Parts: sequence; structure tokens; C-alpha cells
Amino acid sequence: MDLNGKTIVVTGAASGIGLALAERFVQEGAAVVASDLNAERGAAEADRIGARFVPADVGREEGVQALIEAVLAHERQVDVLCSNAGLAVGNGLEPSDALWDLSWRVNVMSHIWGARHVLPHMLARGTGALLQTVSAAGLLTEVHSAPYAVTKHEALAFAEWLAITYGDQGIHVAALCPEWVQTPLIGQAPHLQADAIAPEQVADAAVQGLRAGEFLITTHAMTRRAFQARANTHDRWLGRVRDLARHTQDQLAGRHAFPDDLPTQRGN
Ligand SMILES: NC(=O)c1ccc[n+]([C@@H]2O[C@H](COP(=O)([O-])OP(=O)(O)OC[C@H]3O[C@@H](n4cnc5c(N)ncnc54)[C@H](O)[C@@H]3O)[C@@H](O)[C@H]2O)c1
Repeated sequence: MDLNGKTIVVTGAASGIGLALAERFVQEGAAVVASDLNAERGAAEADRIGARFVPADVGREEGVQALIEAVLAHERQVDVLCSNAGLAVGNGLEPSDALWDLSWRVNVMSHIWGARHVLPHMLARGTGALLQTVSAAGLLTEVHSAPYAVTKHEALAFAEWLAITYGDQGIHVAALCPEWVQTPLIGQAPHLQADAIAPEQVADAAVQGLRAGEFLITTHAMTRRAFQARANTHDRWLGRVRDLARHTQDQLAGRHAFPDDLPTQRGN
């Protein structure tokens, strides 16, 4: 898909990957509507990059619906909806049901509500694209957060279902699955920063993937290798991830350095 002249909506565009996507789409010649829960920062960044800002809470269906309606009323069309907003909360079994529910609504239901409200418009035009920011955690896992690992798998499953169901009707669906990226979502944790790439590199991969019409867009070569290892030797893969989790905990406690010889089997 050529992005020049397209109308593109990006959620979670006040920061990190969403901001980099929005900025890159503007540079590609698209009319970009940037959206975020954080209206103050979102509006300031949209102003800086040359996008129009529409505030929205995508953790509520009414928020997503109002966003799509606002864009259709103003821009008259949506060529690409990037459901990018997401969060990582909670670790193991401790998170409250409220945190599981928040993860479910923002990381999964926002994609479902986005598709529900934008697809009738795209199908009527016979064209459109949905770029879903998932994560390598949707292909692999995330050892530090059960809600994140689970909801990112669900987001990937929904993106696959969309691609299968609407792929023959002019709708392109892509799942953006980066590993670690330098954004506030991963904080300043040194063991995560080591492999983290800049959000602009994710935006490059997304633009290339959209141009090539790819479903699966990854940012690190090791993601696909680990995904294959998981499929081919699942028990062995689980063992390696356990090793990784143990070593990461050790490093978090400052006991010893992260070993270079362990394959990176997780994503964020
Ligand atoms: N940072 C990483 O390492 C990484 C890797 C893979 C995937 N991801 C995914 O990329 C996406 C963007 O994350 P990021 O790393 O740029 O994080 P970020 O924290 O920099 O940006 C997330 C943005 O989403 C917004 N947001 C949160 N809840 C919202 C809601 N209910 N409604 C509207 N906006 C909301 C936040 O205000 C923030 O601006 C997420 O889906 C995340 O899971 C991140």
C-alpha cells in the first residue's frame, strides 16, 4: 500500500511507537489523525509533527466509536486504522481482576471495537487496512507480565481472524510484532534496554511491511527464529524461556550479568 495521500488514524500516538508511526506517516504524505488518552501531550505532539489530534480512550467502546465517527465526519474516510495503544500492567498472578480487565480492554477489545466501527466503511469502499500493534510477546511470551503475554496472544489471534475473514474483500490486516523498543512502556530497566531499538525503527518496519502487503511485521531477526523454535520443539522452548526468566531475575537482583549465549526467547 502506498501511504501518500491516505488518511491514517493512529491510537496511542502521544508517545513511543504510536508517535513514531504518526510522524513517519506524515512524512510519507498521509493525512494523519493522532489519538491518545493523554490529550495534553497528544495534542502538543500532533501539532509538532503536523497531524490532527482527536482525544480518545480506546479502553471503552464509546471512545473508539467516537474517534472513528469524528474522523469520518472531518476527513470523510479512513484508509488505515492503526490500533496501537497498549499497556503492560501487573506481573504474575497478583494483578487484580481490574488490571486483567484493563489489559483486556486496551490490548484486545480496542482492536475489536476499532474493526467493528471502521470495517463497514472500509468494506463499502472495497479497500482499507488495519495495522494492529501486537508485540513479539504475541508470538512468544512475556515472562515479566502474565496479563501482557496473554492479551498480546489474543490480539494476534484476532488479527489473524480478521486477515482470514476480510482478506478477500480488499482489507489488508497487519500485525506489528516488535521486540523491545525504547519507550516509557519498558521504563529504564537495563536488562530490557540492552536489546531495545528506537521507535523510529519500528515505524520503518511498519511502512515497509504495509508497502509489501505483509501480515506479520517483525523488527528483530531473532523473533521469527524463536517463533519457529517454539512451534517445532515446544517443551524445549519452554525450558529455554525458563532459563532466560531465571537469569533475568538474577540480573534484576544485581547478581550476575545477562549471559550472551542464551537465545532471546521473549518479546515485549
Ligand atoms: N515498548 C516496547 O518494547 C513494545 C514492544 C512491542 C510492542 N509494544 C506495543 O506497542 C504499543 C505502544 O506502546 P509503546 O511502547 O509505544 O508505549 P508508550 O507507553 O510509549 O505509549 C503508549 C500510548 O498509549 C496510550 N494509551 C494507553 N492507554 C490508552 C487508552 N485507554 N486509550 C488511548 N490511549 C491509551 C498512552 O497514553 C501512551 O501515549 C503497545 O500496544 C505496546 O504493547 C511495545
